[in-house]
Amino acid sequence: MISSQHTSAKQFQVRVLRQDGPGQENRWEVYKIDHEPDMNVISVLQRVAAKGQTIDGRASSPVAWDCSCLEEVCGSCTMVINGRVRQACSALVDRLLEDKPGEIELRPMTKFPVVRDLCVDRSRKFRALQRVKAWVPVDGYNDMGAGQKQSMGEQEESYPLAQCMSCGCCVEACPQYQKVEVIREAGESDEAFEARKNEAYDNSFLGPAAISQAVLFNRNPTGKMNADERLEALKGPGGVHACGNAQNCVSVCPKGIPLTTSIARAGRAVTVYSIKKWFGS
Ligand code: SF4
Ligand code: SF4
Ligand code: FES
Repeated sequence: MISSQHTSAKQFQVRVLRQDGPGQENRWEVYKIDHEPDMNVISVLQRVAAKGQTIDGRASSPVAWDCSCLEEVCGSCTMVINGRVRQACSALVDRLLEDKPGEIELRPMTKFPVVRDLCVDRSRKFRALQRVKAWVPVDGYNDMGAGQKQSMGEQEESYPLAQCMSCGCCVEACPQYQKVEVIREAGESDEAFEARKNEAYDNSFLGPAAISQAVLFNRNPTGKMNADERLEALKGPGGVHACGNAQNCVSVCPKGIPLTTSIARAGRAVTVYSIKKWFGS
């Protein structure tokens, strides 16, 4: 066990939920790691790889995980750490051990298919951004001059929504967002597998992040041109009506994005759009 006065002589245990590939059985492996000052969970995983053996001396392959920016910007290192979904790069070991002395538990997010160990396939989140057309279309590469101006107030409302890093924390916490896993069939081509996955994803809940991005791009002066297409996606299968208003999403977002405000805005916009459509305007 480690005390609050950690020294390099102290050790702690790391429990990792491991899985060799998509659809396979998972298992826990436990490692003993020497404490060093200023460790984060990424450095713990590096020590686990260097050690190459479990606490009971069995040889162990390096744990697989994703990371890129190492400063809570890309979202790729998101995993469940001591029961809480968050980024491994900003999860500091000393704080984790203060909350749960002697042990850190790492598991992959549960709402996405596991690729291997702590790596998950978040492509459903990116497919949801495609469904709501979360971009401003460019219809040429000529110099078209400056875009339309946004007032300071509009910028201040839009900026928080633009900080989304597609990490997946919000959908991990959302009770309405159920896992969808499509397992590749033997001999199936990349194209056929992608098409089957997208078909399954397109009928499932978009989730709070994609809804919020639709709101962001519908507020943009140029993005507004495609507002109806985004509202169609929000109105369709797995759209904003699938939200149960549990508000878990907003409490776990590491960027503090006002997701429930976005969801309420999206709901109102869909209602107005549906009424107008009903009356043919
Ligand atoms: S809304 Fe927040 S929690 Fe959800 S994907 Fe974006 S940054 Fe992550
Ligand atoms: S408010 Fe909606 S999107 Fe957010 S966690 Fe609840 S059900 Fe999910
Ligand atoms: S590595 Fe980019 S958020 Fe952690």
